[in-house]
Order: sequence, then C-alpha cells, then structure tokens
Amino acid sequence: MNLEKVSEYKCDKCRDITYIVEDGEARECECKALRDCEDILRRSGISEAFRKKRFDNFDFSRDKATMDGYKIATGYALNFKDKEKDRDNSIMFIGQVGSGKTHLSLAIANELMDSGVGVLYMGYREVVTGIKQNIMDEVYYNRVMGRYKSCRVLLIDDLFKGGISKSDVNIVFEILNFRYLNGLPVIVSCELGVSELMAVDEAIGSRLMEMCGSCLVEMKGKRLNYRIYG
Ligand SMILES: Nc1ncnc2c1ncn2[C@@H]1O[C@H](COP(=O)(O)OP(=O)(O)OP(=O)(O)O)[C@@H](O)[C@H]1O
Ligand SMILES: [Mg+2]
Ligand SMILES: [Zn+2]
Repeated sequence: MNLEKVSEYKCDKCRDITYIVEDGEARECECKALRDCEDILRRSGISEAFRKKRFDNFDFSRDKATMDGYKIATGYALNFKDKEKDRDNSIMFIGQVGSGKTHLSLAIANELMDSGVGVLYMGYREVVTGIKQNIMDEVYYNRVMGRYKSCRVLLIDDLFKGGISKSDVNIVFEILNFRYLNGLPVIVSCELGVSELMAVDEAIGSRLMEMCGSCLVEMKGKRLNYRIYG
C-alpha cells in the first residue's frame, strides 16, 4: 500500500494562491502563467476536439484560396497583439461549406489562448436560439449578451447559419455594434458571400467589412469541400 501523502494543492509552492510573499513583498508564483492559461481555456467554451484544430494540422497546399487563407490567418495570429489596437483588428472567413473556415478560426483562437489572450467561442445558431428562448428574462439576457459584447476576442462560428429572422439580426447587431464602437476584435466564419451578407443586413455586413479590413478571406470553389474531397 502506498502511504505517501498526496498534496491537496496543485502547487505546493504557493498553495494555489499563485502569489508568494517573501520579506513582506508579494511576487507571482511560477505556476501563475499556467493557471491563467487554464482559466482562459475553461472560460472560452472551446472543447477538447476544437483545441486540436491547429495551423500545423491544416493542409494549406490544396489550392490557392486555401493557401491565401492560411497565410492571412497565420499572419493575423502572429501580429495579433500589435493589430489589436487598430480599428481593423478582426478577421472573417466566408464562403464554401467544408473549406476550413472553422478550422482556421479555431487555429487562430488556439494560438491566441496559448499566448495568454482570452477568446470566447460563440456557436452562432445554438447561442442565438438560447438567447431567444430566454428573451423575457432580462437578467439572463443582459448577462449572456454582456459576455459576448465585451470579451477580449469573440469567435462567431457559422454566422447566420439556418433561417434568419428579424430577432436573429437584432441580437447579432447588438453584439457586433458594441464591439465595433469599442474596437473589440471578432473572428468570424460564415457560409454567405459578401453580397449575401449585405443582403441579410447591410449595417452588420458593412461594419464587419470595416472591422476586418484586409483580413477578409473568401473561400471559393466546390472542390474546396474538405469533407468530400479531403
Ligand atoms: N486544409 C485543411 N487541412 C486539414 N483539415 C481540413 C482542411 N480544411 C478542412 N479541414 C477539416 O475538414 C473539416 C471541415 O472543415 P471546417 O469545419 O473548418 O469547414 P467550414 O468551412 O467551417 O465548413 P462549414 O461551412 O460547414 O462550417 C474539419 O474537420 C476540418 O478540420
Ligand atoms: Mg464551420
Ligand atoms: Zn504556485
């Protein structure tokens, strides 16, 4: 029988306070960076499976559109901390189903989280449905909307997937307009093309164009569907 006492703390040096006081002075324990990253990951809503979507398991050599998308995405992730202060600090992947839009969005999110930047994942359809089901509950509405409005980086996956109602548009507008006015970045994946997005709602479409600047990635071409053509 192993009678060795197992510590009740994750870190025995600071006893999970993440600070160490020495000679009356507090300094960060070496475990703090790790704990911060764990917190970021826990709050992100990004699953284990999504954590595995990375740049290094993305095949960028399929064709030109994929290569261009990969280049813009890696550049964005690499320069994020400088770019974050700019007005056009967002990125959007649009077009062909199965072309890697979500994969590249998550690859960016995973890189950012590894470097200590908090990202919140918003699966568009599920979240908007949940908000609409609780729309009479003001406390819930404000709490949920507040999270998506003010997090450091918001990843909206599959924007406007499915039938689009007036209240869907209103919810997206409220979140995006807040982020637009406050210079907060979004990473967006969306099956619609630019003109289709503008037709859904021009106020949302034009704000997104301005927020993304040169980081608008359009995936075009049927053979780009990785689920079918690999
Ligand atoms: N270039 C690629 N290299 C490796 N895996 C890829 C590539 N493109 C797509 N995949 C994989 O194929 C699947 C579909 O890709 P993804 O979900 O990113 O497509 P999507 O453009 O978001 O599609 P949808 O419009 O249906 O949401 C995922 O499992 C993804 O990891
Ligand atoms: Mg997708
Ligand atoms: Zn510690």
